[in-house]
Amino acid sequence: MAEQGSSSHEIHTPPRSAVIGLGYVGLPLALLLIDKGFEVYGIDVDERKIQKLQENISYLPDVNDEDISRAMGSGRFHPGTDYAAAGEAEMIILCVPTPLTAYHTPDLSFLQNAARSVGEQLRQGQIVILESSTYPGTTNEVLRPILEKMSGMRAGKDFYIGYSPERIDPGNKTYTVDQIPKLVSGLTEKCGDVAEAWYRRVFKRVVRVSSPEVAEMAKIVENSHRLVNITFVNELALICEQMGIDVWEVIDAAATKPFGFTPYYPGPGIGGHCIPVDPLYLQWKAQAYGIKSQFIALSEALNRSMPQQVADKVFELLGENRTSGNSLVEERETGKPRILLYGVAYKKDVNDVRESPALDLIPILQNRGAEVAYCDPYIQEIRLGEQVMHSVELTDEVLQAADCVVILTDHSSIPVERIIAESKLVFDTRNVTAAMKEAAHVYRLGSGKGRSKRRKKMK
Ligand SMILES: NC(=O)c1ccc[n+]([C@@H]2O[C@H](COP(=O)([O-])OP(=O)(O)OC[C@H]3O[C@@H](n4cnc5c(N)ncnc54)[C@H](O)[C@@H]3O)[C@@H](O)[C@H]2O)c1
Repeated sequence: MAEQGSSSHEIHTPPRSAVIGLGYVGLPLALLLIDKGFEVYGIDVDERKIQKLQENISYLPDVNDEDISRAMGSGRFHPGTDYAAAGEAEMIILCVPTPLTAYHTPDLSFLQNAARSVGEQLRQGQIVILESSTYPGTTNEVLRPILEKMSGMRAGKDFYIGYSPERIDPGNKTYTVDQIPKLVSGLTEKCGDVAEAWYRRVFKRVVRVSSPEVAEMAKIVENSHRLVNITFVNELALICEQMGIDVWEVIDAAATKPFGFTPYYPGPGIGGHCIPVDPLYLQWKAQAYGIKSQFIALSEALNRSMPQQVADKVFELLGENRTSGNSLVEERETGKPRILLYGVAYKKDVNDVRESPALDLIPILQNRGAEVAYCDPYIQEIRLGEQVMHSVELTDEVLQAADCVVILTDHSSIPVERIIAESKLVFDTRNVTAAMKEAAHVYRLGSGKGRSKRRKKMK
């Protein structure tokens, strides 16, 4: 790449990039690159995604069909499944999943497969940049050997390798992908220079760090920080619940301190492909150094217990309503409480159920005898093992038929007033009913309002 001082590779006009993996991370990045004038080869193994893109249809809530039409119409977006396209690009960016195995250890199989496919196409002067979240050491210990073996070339000499964590926050309209400072690193000094020069063409702020390990660790620290703090605040919600103190008011009060306090808010448990997953990558790697990350272990365990806590509260509220003469459950023929969940996405305004607490909560409620239905405007269908569930329409009749409506996700479009008006009992885990907290049948997680009489302060 002439601009970065390589004699072996000339820059093409327009510059060409291959984005491998067109999901929540890869697709917005590909569109940004097109906006910045790049020719983009988008490569994904999922043929359905490629077909949708070719038909100008988006599959992400943050990206609309017009964004895809514009990109396709530019003539510079080439989605496909064929890795040969990677050989055409100067910059190849990997955005493939990094989930957990069934044993809660890092599953790098997607990354390894993608690296093998890229390695087969690699030519002199190209740079391969990993953006997937992963443990410190992955770029050097996993990606580099595969690329070198498949290509027969040397990293840092014949081709370049970088690591730049993706920090996108799906659903966040304020900080879109181009607004977020980009951490950039290279395997060698030269690799870092090449990576930095590329990203400076695309992002407003590029922050160069000294090694891939620093950048890998920085990303994992960001997400571990959120796991630990949100889990703490969930524990606080359970404490406040028993003490009859409204945790939401407590957090807002504490947040008036202009320094030294960052507000985090409770919920039914943390989900998504990042926050519950990335810290376990660090935990796994730390074990190789003989260190147990106790913060991560504790936070993980507490987070996993949240759906159980929510279920306990729901049954407690149902029981209380029954004993207080409002015999919701007994009235019905089956005797099974009908529970309607609003929202199964792991957070607001996304269509993502990966690691969502709803997926753990549903079987817990069912095993305790409840009939469960859900409504989520973003998710038409979920699969729980053999069981397939479909989103129901949130009609007044559906709300009236439910013995308890549990608000799990605070999608912007949630019809809070209607839910409160039509439902017999509402349990809100997101504080969306705060403005109507006086309503007798509305309970918020951690508000202390529906606390068990048995567990009130011992005298
Ligand atoms: N989703 C987020 O909010 C977010 C934010 C920051 C970082 N990340 C990280 O970014 C990475 C990607 O996450 P995502 O949410 O975009 O995942 P995703 O599942 O939405 O997208 C990944 C895409 O990669 C494709 N893919 C899998 N194997 C492939 C292969 N061998 N070749 C080509 N394509 C392949 C999949 O079909 C899928 O479309 C993960 O490491 C994640 O931790 C995600």
